[in-house]
Amino acid sequence: MKLLVCGGAGFIGSTFVRERVRVHGDELTVLDKLTYAGRRENLQEVESDIKFVHGAIEDPEAVAGAVGDAEAIVNFAAETHVDRSISGPEEFIMTNMQGTHVLLEAARERGLGYLQVSTDEVYGSIEEGSFTEESPLQPSSPYSATKTGADLLVSSYFHTYGLETVICRGSNNYGPHQYPEKLIPLMVLNALAGDHLPVYGDGKNVRNWLFVEDFARGIGHALLHGAPGEVYNCGGPDECDNLTVVRRIVELCGRDESLIEFVTDRPGHDRRYSLSSAKLGALGWRAQVRFDEGLARTVEWYRDNAWWWDPIRSGAYRDYYERHYGRALKA
Ligand code: NAD
Ligand code: DAU
Repeated sequence: MKLLVCGGAGFIGSTFVRERVRVHGDELTVLDKLTYAGRRENLQEVESDIKFVHGAIEDPEAVAGAVGDAEAIVNFAAETHVDRSISGPEEFIMTNMQGTHVLLEAARERGLGYLQVSTDEVYGSIEEGSFTEESPLQPSSPYSATKTGADLLVSSYFHTYGLETVICRGSNNYGPHQYPEKLIPLMVLNALAGDHLPVYGDGKNVRNWLFVEDFARGIGHALLHGAPGEVYNCGGPDECDNLTVVRRIVELCGRDESLIEFVTDRPGHDRRYSLSSAKLGALGWRAQVRFDEGLARTVEWYRDNAWWWDPIRSGAYRDYYERHYGRALKA
């Protein structure tokens, strides 16, 4: 297939690009603004097989210049960190909502397919059971509110203009190339450095962990086999509370639990996420990587790839970390 992949230099987008190029031989153009989270390094293994365009999805000219003869647009581009959305929601509104609108217009003008990469956070928090695609949308943070707004806009383009849209909502991803502001890579790098491990609140918040390669395959599956206008949940095979995740990381890194430090909770912190993936399962998708295996692979990748994270930990990220956690990184 010929695809325009927006946000393809980020964590999940670049995993999807590697998978589509290597396994399926797709012809891809990546459009990416290269924010702090977007890195050309993430695409270096397939650099010569893809076309890369540096630009923003909210810029109609950049989108028109990148779209070429693509058959469909796959949109990963987003501001994605909940904590950043709490301290500054503006960019989230611009990229996640305005940017999605520009891409939908580009798809409508050209009659292209459109896949929106979305999140379980649009459903809010659930104490028991799992969200299905029919569950009400009750986002809690500025991040999830802008993702929900984008999803509703995508659905409106199907209902109003007949655009062939699919929405794929993933649960918490983890794996190689994830920016170390998210729980798992942050804890791995801090543990490797012997630094403190900041757990929000009581550490009992539960997430439904999905290995990033499984999500990349799920998105490809929804793109090829999903029905226009439909939403597909793509959840991981295992749930785990944050404290248990951090304890496993401590063990895998050969450290001591005394590094764990309970810190002030995130405002509006969702207690639990859980997705039912039965609908995507009926199309033939299954998660292949269990959490224990995926976490061990992830720790190993960060241990072996300091070239990837060292420039981040020694750059502007240090200021973000200090502002957010009120203390400096050790290494
Ligand atoms: P990420 O933060 O690692 O990467 C985001 C990418 O989008 C970066 O390459 C960045 O440069 C690019 N980008 C940001 N703003 C842009 C703009 N205005 N124009 C063009 N490019 C822009 O994010 P991720 O974790 O890979 O998430 C990708 C998508 O998957 C997002 O839509 C996110 O909401 C969704 N998602 C993430 C998770 C998760 O656990 N990380 C789970 C479910 C869904
Ligand atoms: O559920 C899917 C979502 O998962 C995606 O849509 C988001 O883009 C992605 O960022 C992620 O959101 P979360 O808020 O769940 O992920 P995060 O890694 O920020 O936090 C995971 C849990 O760990 C959450 O309960 C907060 C907690 N946490 C996080 C950090 C960064 C800590 O206890 N300490 C920390 O330092």
